[in-house]
Order: sequence, then C-alpha cells, then structure tokens
Amino acid sequence: MNKPRILITRKLPDAVEQRAVRDYDAILNPQDQLLLRAQILERSQDAVGIVACHTETFDAVMIAALPNTVKVIANVSTGTDHVDLKAAAARGIVVTNTPGVLADATAEIALLLLLGAARRASEGERLVRAGEWSTWSPTFMLGTQVSGKRAGIIGMGGVGQATARFLRGLDMELHYHNRRQLPPEREQGATYHATLDTLLPLCDFVLLHCPATPETRHLINRDTIAQLPDGAIIVNVARGSVVDEADLIAALRSGKLAAAGLDVFENEPQINPEFATLDNVFLLPHLGSATRETRDAMGFLALDNLAAVLAGQAAPNRVN
Ligand code: DGY
Repeated sequence: MNKPRILITRKLPDAVEQRAVRDYDAILNPQDQLLLRAQILERSQDAVGIVACHTETFDAVMIAALPNTVKVIANVSTGTDHVDLKAAAARGIVVTNTPGVLADATAEIALLLLLGAARRASEGERLVRAGEWSTWSPTFMLGTQVSGKRAGIIGMGGVGQATARFLRGLDMELHYHNRRQLPPEREQGATYHATLDTLLPLCDFVLLHCPATPETRHLINRDTIAQLPDGAIIVNVARGSVVDEADLIAALRSGKLAAAGLDVFENEPQINPEFATLDNVFLLPHLGSATRETRDAMGFLALDNLAAVLAGQAAPNRVN
C-alpha cells in the first residue's frame, strides 16, 4: 500500500525525519531552504498533511490555495500566529501546535536574557573579545542586581510558569498577568493582576510570554513603558509583534529602560538595525526552544498530532 504523502517544510532533527520517512511518503527539505509560497504549494501536491514551522505563513490566501488533499497543518511550534486558524477551519484543515515540551528550554533562554541584560553580558563579552578590557575598578561596568527584585510575567502558560519556577531560585518576588488567574498550586505564591495597570508600576523586570494575537500586538509601547519604574528591564521570548520596537528603542536610548533582552523580533531575521547600535540590549536569534532534546520532542509531538488527525482521531494539540 502506498504511504500517505506529507510535506515537511524545514529540516527537522534526524530522528524525527527517520520516523516521518518510516510512516509516510515524506517530502523533506534536506538543504533547509526557506520555501517560497509557490514552492510549498508545488511540494504539497497530493499531500495529506504539512509539517510546518513559524517561518512559513499560511494566511487566508495561502490556505485557499492549498491542495484539497491537505487535512492537517501540524506545526513544530507553540505559536500559531503564522496560520490563519479560521481560514483553515473553514477549509476543514486541522491545525496543531507543540505546547508543553518547550517550556523549560524557552524559560532557560528567558533567564539567560534576563541575567544577560541586567548584568551587561554581551557588552562585557564584546569588550573582552575585542581586547579592549583594560582595567578593573569598583565602578567598572555596573549592572542591575536581579536577586530579590520584582518580576512581572505577562502570559502565565507553560513557558511563563517554567520561567517563574526558575526566577524563584533567584529569590524574585513574582507578579503576573494572564487571561485567567491560575489555581494556587500553579501560582505558587505569585500575585495575579487582572490588568497591566496594577502590574507594570511594580516591575523591575517584565518577562513577555504571551501569545501573539491582535490583542497583544504592541502591548509594550510608549504608554505601557511609561508605567514601568525607571530603569526597568524587559525580556521578550514570545513574539516580536508584542513589542512596539520603535518605542522600545526610544526608551532604551533615553535610559527610561536600563536594558532589554530579546530573542524575538518583528521582522526576523532582518531585525531593526538600530538594535545593534545599542549596548543595553542583549540579542539572540530566536533560540527559545533550540535544544536538541526539545527540538526532538517538538518534532515527535508534531508527528503525533499529524498521525492522530490522519487516523480520524482527536489531535492532542488541536488549536482550531
Ligand atoms: C514556538 O514554539 O512558537 C517557537 O517560537 C518556535 O517557533
């Protein structure tokens, strides 16, 4: 019997691709080219499913153009802002994501950014590498102490909760904003704020963990930054669209914000070049879930979701 055809848009870890090839007539992308829309359409002819990443956009036009054979878009990501979920549902295409398995890896990057931004890690590293480190003095490269300070987590899903767990190790006082208050066993002592208005004035550090939706677009902007204490630090491992980058850059330049740690940007990978001119921003290239363990787990979970849909069962992580 012929195996069902699937398209895998990007190069996935070897073990994940081996399972895909075992079970499907899988069209792979060994060179890991970023596929154009036309290439996705051409390669998905006769495919029953597409295993995709956030680097491909499935807007309404793209969804409408997909072959009728496609029943599922199984994303190797938690974020699904690159897919028009309603348009997919209207065509009977199930969309799935990979929550849960990437929480710790992404929280590790949030912690790295928080510490790196507060303690001027990339600035210091650049200095040492450039051979420009000439002295030690009691006032040399002073940063912001993290331990004991107040952190405000915006978005208390799996990643936000994992970050909270790590921040407790730094004796931070935790506050959070979320669509819904968590039960006490998940809050673990963190204080819930129903609105940003009560949360932001308390935050020495703000950590963004919310999904990218029309409601969270430019949630961090001139007005919300103004509500923060002077010298606050912002960390973003969610999506670039959650931050108005021009307003963030202005606040980093003026000193209103001491620093920022950013793993995600509005226009990846062509980020706003002004970021690179600022010493007080710690930049990473969207590495949140980029560990071998986590990328394996994400790939396998995407295949689990795909298999469930194709078997006519409820997908573990259906989002539409
Ligand atoms: C996610 O899971 O959303 C990561 O950002 C990778 O796409």
